[in-house]
This record gives sequence, structure tokens and C-alpha cells, in this order.
Amino acid sequence: MFSFQLLSALSSAALLVVALPPGPPPRPGACDPSGAIMDLPSGQTQLVAPTTAPLFVALGVGIQNYTCTASTLKYTSTGAVASLFDLSCIDKSPAFASIQTTAFNAWNAAPAGASANTVGGRIGTPTLLGFHYFVTSPSGTGISPKWDFTSTGKFAGNSSAFVTGSKVGDITAPTDSATNVDWLAINNIEGSLASKIFRIDTVNGQPPTSCVAGSADISVKYTAKYFLY
Ligand SMILES: *[C@@H]1O[C@H](CO)[C@@H](O)[C@H](O)[C@H]1NC(C)=O
Ligand SMILES: *[C@@H]1O[C@H](CO)[C@@H](O)[C@H](O)[C@H]1NC(C)=O
Repeated sequence: MFSFQLLSALSSAALLVVALPPGPPPRPGACDPSGAIMDLPSGQTQLVAPTTAPLFVALGVGIQNYTCTASTLKYTSTGAVASLFDLSCIDKSPAFASIQTTAFNAWNAAPAGASANTVGGRIGTPTLLGFHYFVTSPSGTGISPKWDFTSTGKFAGNSSAFVTGSKVGDITAPTDSATNVDWLAINNIEGSLASKIFRIDTVNGQPPTSCVAGSADISVKYTAKYFLY
């Protein structure tokens, strides 16, 4: 009798377990970049948000490189190198608006020689999507920016998971444009990761306003948000 009751109690418990619904669905928008808002200044036509949803939203942490041009005694850009961290899990949270400043403060305080790859972990955006750097332009002349996810995360080993691009829009940063690098729109010229990329919410990265003849090349730390469509 006792064992029968136990058995029936156990089987109803088992039934109960089986009947339980699966866990709660993921919070809407969690780790989904499609609803991320790209906030662009009004009154300009250089950067126009696409009508489609973003495919990736990334935090860039890295450096802008410059060389001193002897004829003008101004620094000119020679490219950039950055680590790209996934922002899709925080793009609906209050931290999103100022994540580039939080990241820049951590990056700026990092000791010389510390890698940009460690900053994401420190500020709660640990997932590395890929890298941004410059390559010889597909035309063979000059350099072009590249966003390369081929060696990281779910695209590791996928040789087409990159974009090499060409700048199609450029505005000075809406705040502190002497310090913060321009906001940009870039179109795909090669690769299948995305067709359009925007660099916004930049922090730092501008060179000093002038250089003296023979100045060494410099690297200036910066952070930014990149939206890939
Ligand atoms: C930028 O400068 C750093 C040294 O600060 C160097 O390691 C890197 O290769 C340079 N990259 C480009 C694209 O010039
Ligand atoms: C490789 O990456 C591209 C995006 O860059 C994607 O469209 C394609 O489906 C991926 N291929 C495989 C086999 O995962």
C-alpha cells in the first residue's frame, strides 16, 4: 500500500516535471542587435541610417595611427587597429549610451603594452566579434578599412566573414571634435559580412593639431561604436 502510494506520488511528480513548460523565453531584445538604435545627429545628410535592422553592433577599442606630413606639418592618418566587442546583449540597457566612454576610460588607464582585447572583459562586454584594421585597397592603391570576423566566435574559419570598405560619408564628431574622431559611413567593396558600416559615438583618437618635421609616427587611443548593416 505504502509503496503503491509512493509510486503513484513519484509518477505524478514525474508527470508534473514532464508537464512543466520550458524556461522563460529570452528577454525580448537580449543579445539581439536587430533593435539597436543608431542615434545620428539631425541636420546632416552624410550619415543616413539604413531602413533595415543592424546585423551587428560592436564596441571598437583600439588606436588611430598617424604620420607627420613634412609639407604641411600636420598629422595624417595611416590607419587604425581595434578589437570589436559585441554590444548586442546590452543595446537595450542604460549602459549602452555611454559604453564608449566607460571603455575609453578603462583603455586609457591600461598600462602601456596592455592589449585592447582585455578591455571588454573589464567593462562587461567580453565577447570578441572580431578585429578592425587596414589593408592594401582592393584597387591596389592606398589602404582600406577592414572589419574581420574570420578568426573569432561563430565565424571562425569562415573566410568570407569580413568587409573591406570605402568611406562614403563623414561628419565631425558632434561633441569635442578636436578630440574625438569623425563619425563615418562606409560602403562594402569586398566581403559578405555586411553591406554598410557606420562609426559613431567616437571617443578620442584625434592627433595633435600640428607636428614638427621629423616627428615620429604616433598612435592615439580611441573607442567608438560600429553598426554593421
Ligand atoms: C599602428 O601602430 C602600431 C604601433 O603603435 C602598430 O603596431 C600597427 O601595426 C600600426 N597599424 C597601422 C595600420 O598602421
Ligand atoms: C560565412 O559568413 C557569411 C557572413 O560573412 C555568411 O553569410 C555565411 O553564411 C557564412 N557561411 C557559413 C558556411 O557559415
